[in-house]
Amino acid sequence: MKGQPPPRRTSWPWQDMPRPEAKLADHADRERLYQADPNFGSVVSYPARCPAWGKSSYRGNCDGTLFKELLLRYRPKTVADPMMGSGTTGDVVRGMNRHLGTGIEFFGADLRTGFDLERDPLPGPFEFIWLHPPYWDIVRYSQADPRDLSQTAEWPDFCMRLSACLLRCAGALTPGGHLAVLVGDIRKRGRYYSMAAELLSHRGAFGELRSILIKGQHRCTSDRKTYAPFVDAPIRHEYCLLFRRPSA
Ligand SMILES: C[S@@+](CC[C@H](N)C(=O)[O-])C[C@H]1O[C@@H](n2cnc3c(N)ncnc32)[C@H](O)[C@@H]1O
Repeated sequence: MKGQPPPRRTSWPWQDMPRPEAKLADHADRERLYQADPNFGSVVSYPARCPAWGKSSYRGNCDGTLFKELLLRYRPKTVADPMMGSGTTGDVVRGMNRHLGTGIEFFGADLRTGFDLERDPLPGPFEFIWLHPPYWDIVRYSQADPRDLSQTAEWPDFCMRLSACLLRCAGALTPGGHLAVLVGDIRKRGRYYSMAAELLSHRGAFGELRSILIKGQHRCTSDRKTYAPFVDAPIRHEYCLLFRRPSA
C-alpha cells in the first residue's frame, strides 16, 4: 500500500535498523530474535548480518540466524562449536538461554583460543555440533600455524584434514544427535572446488544425511579471487549439511 512501510519479517528485526552495527536496543526486538521463522525451509538467505551475535569484522564470520533456527528445531540441551571464530554461536546460545530459558550447555573453542580440532579431545557427548570450517585458504586465520586448516597448501590435503575434523565431531555426538556443517564451494584460478561434494562423497561416515540447506552468500571473498573470465556463474550460495548420528 502506498505510503505504508513494508511489513517486518518476524525473524529479522535488525533488517530495518538504520545502522547495521547498532546493538539491538529495544527489548521487544531482542525477544523476537529468538522466535522461530515460520517460513524456514531448505533455502535461506540473510542479507543483513544480525549485530547481536559474533563480530562482523572477523573474516569469514557467519550470521547466527541459521544456527538459531536449527537450535529451535532440534532443541538440543548440549551444543558445541569447535571452530567458533568470533563467537557467533556462543552469543546465540547465551541469548536463547537468557530470553527463552533453554538452559543449553555450550562448549565453544577455536584454534585462536588454543583448541586444535584435529588433535584435542572434544568433551561431550553433544546433542548438536555446529562446524563452520575455513573455506580452504580463501581467508587465512594464522600467519603460519600448521595446525590451522586454512594454511593447507593442497586441496586434497585440505579435504582430508576437514574430513578428519568432521569424523571427530560425529564421534562426539549422542545417539540421535545432529552435526551441522556450513561449507562453501570456491573457485580458484578458474577451477571449481566443491567442499560440499567432497563431504557428501563420504556416504554415511558423518552420520545419516538429513538435510542439505542452501544458504545465500553475501559479500563473497572467493568471488574476488576469481581469475577466470566471467563465463561461469559467480558463487552466491553455500551449504549447510545436516547429519544425524543413528540412535543406538
Ligand atoms: C570460517 S571461521 C568460523 C567463523 C565463525 N563461525 C564466526 O561466525 O565467527 C573458521 C575458524 O576455524 C578456525 N580453525 C582453523 N583450523 C582449526 C583447527 N585445527 N582447530 C580449531 N579451529 C580451527 C579458525 O581459527 C577460524 O576461526
